[in-house]
Amino acid sequence: MDNSRKYLLNFKGCNFERTLVDMKILEKLDDFEIRDDDVFVITYPKSGTVWTQQILSLIYFEGHRNRTEKWDTLDRVPFLEYNIRNVDIENRPSPRLFASHLPYYLAPKSLKNNKAKIIYVYRNPKDVLISFFHFSNMVVKLEASNTLENFMEKFLDGKVVGSLWFDHIRGWYEHKNDFNILFMMYEDMKKDLRSSILKISSFLEKDLSEEEVDAIVRQATFENMKFIPQANYNSILKNEFGTRNNEGAFLRKGAVGDWKHHMTVEQSERFDRIFQEEMKDFPLKFIWDLN
Ligand code: A3P
Repeated sequence: MDNSRKYLLNFKGCNFERTLVDMKILEKLDDFEIRDDDVFVITYPKSGTVWTQQILSLIYFEGHRNRTEKWDTLDRVPFLEYNIRNVDIENRPSPRLFASHLPYYLAPKSLKNNKAKIIYVYRNPKDVLISFFHFSNMVVKLEASNTLENFMEKFLDGKVVGSLWFDHIRGWYEHKNDFNILFMMYEDMKKDLRSSILKISSFLEKDLSEEEVDAIVRQATFENMKFIPQANYNSILKNEFGTRNNEGAFLRKGAVGDWKHHMTVEQSERFDRIFQEEMKDFPLKFIWDLN
């Protein structure tokens, strides 16, 4: 039986987590007023959202906004469509920072041809799949799958939050000229975090001193982020998402190529065939392994 409807809400062709999504915002997305200095991190789930939220939060907040030291990253860079902490996003002081999993066609209309900046982070979809599989089994808010095979079916059917990975990345990439958008690849961030942070800060027109860059790199590595309470989402996991076995972490492995430890040769080859079919003529390259 298809149980996914218990967890997913389909709005205009895209799946959202049913209980956390903010319908008031979804229904008014077309009219949501964008400011020139708004900044968005847009991703398909499990592609490095929290990581990039942390980088943005460090660039804009650390040492720059008083009395925000203890704020969770989620409060510094709230989700637009999952406004789970009820942040007054319309009246936030500029520059406002947002995260979102929206597909391009649901993005607020005034994001188009606007100066507001978007950082789109993408990751090789086999690692996205594995990360999503573990995450869905961990949190109460998502449907668990007893086997990877089972989850892979849902993923390839788009019966997950964010719908089809192929459509999400294609949509944003093919409409990139309508937006002020920077594409960042998770695997590049992993390979060279410092250069990635410089690329992001240059896109944001933020001049950082050497010391500031050092501090951001230090606080954005997987190893350190895991122990920064404001950034590791442990409390959000416990309170807003809820975990099935009281264990697991948002920052799970943070590796490139973890799919190799989980997918059978058959699953991997099947995925490759579908990937080649769906992504033929797609210009962005993917990194499947760092070795
Ligand atoms: P894994 O489950 O493979 O470990 P999102 O934030 O979009 O939900 O993505 C979550 C994934 O990003 C998880 O992947 C998580 O570990 C990884 N991640 C989070 N912070 C990271 C960091 N600083 N460096 C590398 N990966 C990170």
